[in-house]
Amino acid sequence: KQYRVAVAGATGAVGNQMIQCLEERDFPIGELRLLASERSRGKRLKYKGEDIEVQVLGEGSFQGVDIALFSAGGGTSLEWSPKAAQAGAVVIDNSAAWRMDPEVPLVVPEVNPHAVAGFKKKGIIANPNCSTIQMVVVLKPIHDLAGIERVVVSTYQAVSGTGQKAIVELQGQLKAIYCQDAQPQAKVYPHVIAQNVLPHIDIFLDNGYTKEEMKMVHETVKIMEDPTIKVSATCVRVPVIYGHSEACNITTARKISAQQAREALAKAPGVKVVDDPANKLYPMPLDAAGQDLTLVGRIREDVSQEKGLDLWLVADNIRKGAAANAVQIAELLIAGGHI
Ligand code: A2P
Repeated sequence: KQYRVAVAGATGAVGNQMIQCLEERDFPIGELRLLASERSRGKRLKYKGEDIEVQVLGEGSFQGVDIALFSAGGGTSLEWSPKAAQAGAVVIDNSAAWRMDPEVPLVVPEVNPHAVAGFKKKGIIANPNCSTIQMVVVLKPIHDLAGIERVVVSTYQAVSGTGQKAIVELQGQLKAIYCQDAQPQAKVYPHVIAQNVLPHIDIFLDNGYTKEEMKMVHETVKIMEDPTIKVSATCVRVPVIYGHSEACNITTARKISAQQAREALAKAPGVKVVDDPANKLYPMPLDAAGQDLTLVGRIREDVSQEKGLDLWLVADNIRKGAAANAVQIAELLIAGGHI
């Protein structure tokens, strides 16, 4: 069977990768509808060597569509996801708009694939936050083995997570500094990101955390389906284009050795252990970019507590953190006979 697929936000950083993931994974597509804003009217994008004209998202865009992949911002998702579902499509939404809705499943296929069945309530499945996805892929096998009680995570997040405009901004600032001897200008972020590090992603909340940090707290519990897991996060933007890195300190209920954790992770789906410090091998964004695996290394026993582990994980935030995870969810819908 072939499916009619729409990509809303097709001209964006994530939308573009969604098209590429559909192509690479040879998704069974009968018709591919590419949607964006008025700004992209008439633009053409390539899919399997074929030029497809971008259409302006509007009434009728989702008529006859089986699966709608959304990555066009929270506002667009809030307004259009229910309309797409009403038209008969199953929506897989990359924005934060629906993630914590109790009637919307939040799915990472390696962790809670069974949850997709919950799409029937609203016709919407949410794709988690990029930093959360790559973290839970690594936490799951450790939780199964030793029971995770608490995670303290610090992220080092790439600018592509903010969208195409942030990639252009970082490149422009680097060019200003190195090629034009000019002052770099900040528009997308409140400060210059080139040669800098910003401990500020999304808005600040009353409790002193940012919204991005609290997404990691709440989404982890929902995906892992265990309200006892406590998370504290510090989310930081770094001048990297593709690939989020995370330093995780994990407290477990049962003591496990670093070697036991390494063995469990080596067998886990979607994970690649890169942990050979003697040969200078550890996960890095440049190595993670362009693939769908989450790389994990620097796995060691915490010297400050008995039942503790420290590790370092890296994934391509636009691929596993967004586009690839969404396409995997669509594959689960097909494999489960849901569509
Ligand atoms: P456009 O390129 O026409 O502005 P990014 O996350 O890289 O910034 O991309 C955002 C994506 O969402 C783009 O494809 C953008 O289209 C699309 N988009 C933004 N606002 C709307 C809207 N109101 N209707 C449809 N698409 C939108």
